[in-house]
Amino acid sequence: MVMASISNPFITTGYQGSEYFCDREQETNALRSNLVNGQSTTLVAIRRIGKTGLIRHVLAQLPEDHTGIYLDILPTENLKEFLNALTTAIFSGIPERSKPGKKILDFIKSLRPVVSFDPLTGLPQLTLDTRPGEAERHIQSVLEFLESYPQKVIIAIDEFQQILYYPEKNTDALLRSIIQSLNNVRFIFSGSQQHLMTQLFADPSRPFYQSAGFLKIDKIKPEAYTSFIRHHFENAGITISLETIDAMLNWADHHTYYVQLLCNRVFASAPGKMGDEFWKTQAAQLLQEQEIVFFKYRDLLTKHQWNLLKAIAHEGTVFYPTSKDFIAKYELGSPATVLRSLQALSDKEMIYSDYTKEGQVFYSVYDVLFRRWMQSR
Ligand SMILES: Nc1ncnc2c1ncn2[C@@H]1O[C@H](COP(=O)(O)OP(=O)(O)OP(=O)(O)O)[C@@H](O)[C@H]1O
Ligand SMILES: [Mg+2]
Repeated sequence: MVMASISNPFITTGYQGSEYFCDREQETNALRSNLVNGQSTTLVAIRRIGKTGLIRHVLAQLPEDHTGIYLDILPTENLKEFLNALTTAIFSGIPERSKPGKKILDFIKSLRPVVSFDPLTGLPQLTLDTRPGEAERHIQSVLEFLESYPQKVIIAIDEFQQILYYPEKNTDALLRSIIQSLNNVRFIFSGSQQHLMTQLFADPSRPFYQSAGFLKIDKIKPEAYTSFIRHHFENAGITISLETIDAMLNWADHHTYYVQLLCNRVFASAPGKMGDEFWKTQAAQLLQEQEIVFFKYRDLLTKHQWNLLKAIAHEGTVFYPTSKDFIAKYELGSPATVLRSLQALSDKEMIYSDYTKEGQVFYSVYDVLFRRWMQSR
């Protein structure tokens, strides 16, 4: 894929080709190897760490005889909308020029879709006129059509956990039974709500149990990110020291989106030689611009949830949120109240919990900027 060169190498949305994509070599190889060898794969990680980027990266470099199709089902609320997202993705991903491509697209057209154009991306959006109960059958037919496609087909379904919110309670059973019968189509199921993804794929009583390989992605390795950042700064004639890069990575907590955001900002106005003061000013400015968002958080939460959020932000990571010490330090009341607020903050995706390499659970605030803002006050 040839991409136009861009003015700022630190992108903060989407995928712009491997030149602007840092590392993930191991993950890319693992995922590609699974798919090429016929194994569907579940991809999980916390938000904004680079799942979608990795999927795009892998789909962009599939072997010649593979076709990649990508759909994000976060905006979908039921099977009918899932069908729309699926057909839209196939419509965009399969070239009409080939005979088998035409066959599939003709079938989609026979379902009488209304085509509109996304005002933001300009890409076509298909809406099918389905009667109640028809969506299931159409999903099956569309996927079965791909069986006769002369290339192997990889379908990446991003934010897959969304199916758990559909009113059709048997969605996972339905999809599982369709998917099971396919030989030519492999899937990537990606999601950020880890407890939901685990529920879908690791619970023996659920249809998707052990139906796919599992890949959990973490923060990008510091060495790899350091050389990526250095490369792009120096490419533009900007000298940046390893200490500065290290400090910036730490400030952004190595969290991909926040690293990209900070680097993008600093790059945009960096002088030829970058001192330590420069990036700090830029970082402080970022926080200031976000203040209005942070105050919004406060309005969305109860007093106790807000206090707990501030406490976790202050600490960075918290291992024992119901411990006497933590509760006393931040005057958080009883362990039961803390547990309730923890749950509420997780549900609102303000905080996340994850495991250390040693298997210990910890809690952190999602928004690194908020964390830094809190810590600077
Ligand atoms: N390996 C990478 N190198 C450079 N930038 C990356 C890389 N991976 C992701 N990014 C960038 O980081 C940001 C977040 O990545 P991405 O959207 O892929 O995360 P995500 O895990 O899918 O997040 P979410 O859970 O919110 O969907 C994006 O701006 C993306 O362009
Ligand atoms: Mg994503």
